[in-house]
Amino acid sequence: MKRIAVLASGRGTNLEAILKASEKAEISGEVALVLSDQPEAQALERARRRNIEALYLNPGEYRGREDYDRAVVERLKTADIELVALAGFMRLLSPYFVSAFPMQIMNIHPALLPAFPGVDGVEQALNYGVKVSGCTVHFVDEGLDTGPIILQEAVPVIQEDTVETLHERIHAAEYRLYPTAIELFCRDKLKVEGRRCMIID
Ligand code: GRF
Repeated sequence: MKRIAVLASGRGTNLEAILKASEKAEISGEVALVLSDQPEAQALERARRRNIEALYLNPGEYRGREDYDRAVVERLKTADIELVALAGFMRLLSPYFVSAFPMQIMNIHPALLPAFPGVDGVEQALNYGVKVSGCTVHFVDEGLDTGPIILQEAVPVIQEDTVETLHERIHAAEYRLYPTAIELFCRDKLKVEGRRCMIID
């Protein structure tokens, strides 16, 4: 069983999907820690409800991004974390953090990367007028949503869509895609060569 930490700033519905998959033994890993930069993040509550360690670290108490990340990395290492899953964590990780967990940090993004990176991926795609968007699980490197892509799922855009309705269907895809990518990692089935992430037997 791999030890997983989920980092989230908000609602944590992806966290919920990961927890449910873990409870149903659909992923051979356990969420050992949930960490947030927001004291009121619903994600923390979801962890507490299950007696999973829920940790709030206040960025305001650190001198800058790297200082904060050093504190986060220390907690993750102390908890023997092998996979860090970002699920709506609204902070860009410093090079220090990324190099502390090489190809061990994943993120989920609500668009088909490399299109529409950054915040508001759903809105950007809708405003651009694409007919197909979706979601992407990728490894995290030092860029903004630029790391090797692990899995993607397409979601068609319909004419009547608003940001909310499109995001809702993308969310539904995310709840399938993220646990699947995590399970591949837990079973040591992911191999990265350059930008390409291969699934090995
Ligand atoms: C998801 O849409 C994810 O793609 C993006 O942030 C959102 C998080 O939603 N990175 P939730 O907190 O898991 O509900």
